Amino acid sequence: MPKQCVPRTSRLLAFMIGDSTITFARKYLCDYFSPIAPGAVIYDNGCGTGAVTRAVLDIYPELISSSPATPIHATDINAVFIEDFKELVASRGWKSTVHPAVMAAENLALPDSTVTHSFTNFLIFGVGDAPKAAAEVLGTLVPGGVAVMTSWATLPHAKALDRTRERLYGEHVMSHIKPEWFESSYLENLLRDAVFVRVTAFQVDSEMSWMGMPPGGWTEKDEAEWDRNREIYGAKCVREGFKVDEDGRVRASMVANVVMAWKG
Ligand SMILES: C[S@@+](CC[C@H](N)C(=O)[O-])C[C@H]1O[C@@H](n2cnc3c(N)ncnc32)[C@H](O)[C@@H]1O
Repeated sequence: MPKQCVPRTSRLLAFMIGDSTITFARKYLCDYFSPIAPGAVIYDNGCGTGAVTRAVLDIYPELISSSPATPIHATDINAVFIEDFKELVASRGWKSTVHPAVMAAENLALPDSTVTHSFTNFLIFGVGDAPKAAAEVLGTLVPGGVAVMTSWATLPHAKALDRTRERLYGEHVMSHIKPEWFESSYLENLLRDAVFVRVTAFQVDSEMSWMGMPPGGWTEKDEAEWDRNREIYGAKCVREGFKVDEDGRVRASMVANVVMAWKG
């Protein structure tokens, strides 16, 4: 791995996503959601750095020590992310409310019919079996419980990444995102097929300030040419309409699909 490449830790995830995912979560919670009352059982699926959990507790700080209790289950397949999130939970005094655990979205170990509010924030396109993950969400919800799933409607850096990968590693390098994942209909169909009811879609926008490992793994050439490759990516981003600030950071407008659906 090139020495310039940051290991895949929650620090890297936090750096890559910036405030984008928590900003989206705050927006849909504030603008589209009925207030969450004490006694709810909240699920942050594929929590990463805990964007949804943090957004919920920013908006409803009273849930941290509510009576009745309002447990928040925050799970992720990445054990390193969960260990880091446990530290954050402890540092904020949330241990009695927020319960982080390593868990695959395709095989949830939460009891059936217990969750009232289930959030799958920018996860579904990363799971191996999305229909299974949607069925697991449905199974854990109480009847009448609500599920939220989000995906990127626009990811302005995706084309620049694809063009840079093609230039570095050849023309037939797979895009990291399938075109249909940008469509709200992907999430809507997933939830309808899982037999959710009242499937409702809308979009929210925000801003985000990323090049994964090449096919076949990193080489010494990648490390030696890191700066030049970063320049290629920056130039392609600018061509796609990005702005680069004085510190060389790339800023882009982001739009997300948000789909809400209920268990009948
Ligand atoms: C783009 S990040 C989003 C993180 C967080 N939900 C947010 O909104 O910031 C996707 C997360 O899903 C996790 N993930 C990927 N595949 C998963 C799976 N099969 N089961 C559970 N989590 C998964 C990753 O480890 C990562 O933390």
